[in-house]
Amino acid sequence: MSDEGAISPVEELTPLEASAEWAALADEIAVHDKAYYQKDAPEISDAQYDALRRRLQSLEAAFPALVRADSPTQRVGAAPAPAFSKVPHAVPMLSLGNAFDDADVDEFVKGVRRFLKLAPDEAVKIVCEPKIDGLSVSLRYEKGKFVMAATRGDGTTGEDITENLKTLSELPMTIDGARQEIPDVLEVRGEVYMTRADFEKINQAQEKAGAKVFANPRNAAAGSLRQKDASVTASRSLRLFAYAWGEVSGPVAETHWDFLTKLRGWGFPTNPLARLARTTEEGLAFYNEIEAGRAALDYEIDGMVYKVNRLDWQQRLGAVSRAPRWAIAHKFAAEKAETVLNTITIQVGRTGTLTPVANLEPITVGGVVVSRATLHNEDEIARKDVREGDTVIIQRAGDVIPQVVSVVLEKRPKNSKAFSFPDHCPECASLAVRDEGEVARRCTGGLVCPAQKLERLKHFVSRNAFDIEGLGVKHIKAFSEDGLIKTPADIFRLESDHADAIANRDGWGRQSADNLFAALRQRSTISLDRFIYALGIHQVGQANARLLAKQYGSMSGWRIQMDAAQDRDGDAFADLTNIDGIGPSVADDLLAFCAEDHNRDVLDDLGNLLTVEDFEAPDVGSSPIAGKTVVFTGSLETLSRAEAKVRAESLGAKVAGGVSKKTDYVVVGADAGSKAKKAAELGVATLSEDEWLALIG
Ligand code: IVH
Repeated sequence: MSDEGAISPVEELTPLEASAEWAALADEIAVHDKAYYQKDAPEISDAQYDALRRRLQSLEAAFPALVRADSPTQRVGAAPAPAFSKVPHAVPMLSLGNAFDDADVDEFVKGVRRFLKLAPDEAVKIVCEPKIDGLSVSLRYEKGKFVMAATRGDGTTGEDITENLKTLSELPMTIDGARQEIPDVLEVRGEVYMTRADFEKINQAQEKAGAKVFANPRNAAAGSLRQKDASVTASRSLRLFAYAWGEVSGPVAETHWDFLTKLRGWGFPTNPLARLARTTEEGLAFYNEIEAGRAALDYEIDGMVYKVNRLDWQQRLGAVSRAPRWAIAHKFAAEKAETVLNTITIQVGRTGTLTPVANLEPITVGGVVVSRATLHNEDEIARKDVREGDTVIIQRAGDVIPQVVSVVLEKRPKNSKAFSFPDHCPECASLAVRDEGEVARRCTGGLVCPAQKLERLKHFVSRNAFDIEGLGVKHIKAFSEDGLIKTPADIFRLESDHADAIANRDGWGRQSADNLFAALRQRSTISLDRFIYALGIHQVGQANARLLAKQYGSMSGWRIQMDAAQDRDGDAFADLTNIDGIGPSVADDLLAFCAEDHNRDVLDDLGNLLTVEDFEAPDVGSSPIAGKTVVFTGSLETLSRAEAKVRAESLGAKVAGGVSKKTDYVVVGADAGSKAKKAAELGVATLSEDEWLALIG
């Protein structure tokens, strides 16, 4: 049936034949949709798939009586993303830290002042922009011509949505350079969104066609943007607000406010409500104004973004892990709703933490249907006295996991019982213990616990770890249930050990299996920091994994030093805890992981199967402090400690928290204490602030 050429023209079919063919085609398409969208494992090419759909469309055009609400031709935008090609972002697309109240905003501005060591009379002007609840995109222009659009993706790599973005009428295809000078390369970033009015219209149309309706304008915008068929995107009236830039070949402006003005001059839509505040108070007053007027806007916003206006300050402030230090999102108050809590179940996480989850009577909160909410931990359940059968108030703030806020005691059923938190793991029955000072109870089953095992495997292949295309959570679960994978290394043996078994699985096939094996081969080379992160060690997230990669440089270097650091009195342990950011508690978890036989076997095994790339220090040109270890002590005059650290690191130095024989320089500020003394004892070079500044130029 996929071979269009061999079948009769639709005009020659009798209604009966047409109806039979329609039914067979609809089934066939449904099978491929499932393989493609749900299993991430297409079995036919895009062209073959399109041919099937075209045939179905022509059948329906010739025999309109065949059109049914559930026909594949009527289903658009409901399915998850088709495969767009990947685009790396030359400048990462960052996310924003959150402020939930005025005090958080005040602290943000104070933090900026501290970092920049500003004099008390120096004003910090802040641009305030509504936070648009849409999807961020990056739009690339070369010599004023629109050449490419990409989604944010994981911030480092997005997806090519150029064709879809071309259909946005608000997007300039060429920028008029006569008005303002344009850099040759200019990436403009902004938010694609849908107005409430368009959202209503589209949902009416979807409903009429018997297709899935969207829960909120953001989902509708997402579904419309990621259409394979750009003509569908075109029919969905998406809009844009531009507010930032990515890669640029020349300076864009001196202040963010001027940049917004330039954007308008170049023909981009910018948000008309943006304002320049001279003080924190002005910014907060503006926030209140916007929140009060929020419902009257024709698009959804979920807070306000504050951005330091001076771009030279933005540059100095830089970013910490994935969020800039020069901007913050101030969220609007969370939306609340009342519903019944049916049961409390316990989820076991990757590192064994038992998390209580409230299973709720489904309810819509802020446009999203919520059926589960977190109860955090056993103390929280006890404090709020949450019981099964209770009516509870839940809240959902932006993208944060919904939470149970309180119980409506008047509605508590008679003879309800206080919840008793298990002291054994519900998955493997091992003892679950609570360490002193910890709120979490943890299963002691380690890798005996199937839940922990599964969660670790899921983490191993997740987006910021190995990120294996086509190997989703569902596959990991199914493969481990069927015994194809037991340890992370087994994933990389799927091709050698189970190629036929996978190809013969339900919904797979040779082609999908080969695609998976190709993806695995491609990912068998990985950077050291990603590798360490992928191991899922308690307290070792992306930031700490990077610190370790930077400190130890290579897989073997790291392992040797971890073994040596098992001796808590030795130098290796001191080196580990001297890493600025790695405290004794992280060190404990890390060393415990590295000492366990089972983990050592996994590391050996992975070491044989994979190429773990040495940490690549950023190219710092001819920096005089590249590779040196520096310790700052005492208070510096011209720079804050934080900025001094960032600068040193950007020039290739490692900044340590404590002095050891491996320290190259100790920079001594006013009122320095024991570290300066220790430097003198160990014969480490000490520098004054001026000498340091002279050294780094
Ligand atoms: S600036 C480096 N401005 O919020 C800062 N973001 O939570 C980049 N967003 O990923 C973001 N309105 O998708 C900025 N006026 C605005 C925004 C905005 C919405 C989104 C954006 C970002 C997310 C972070």
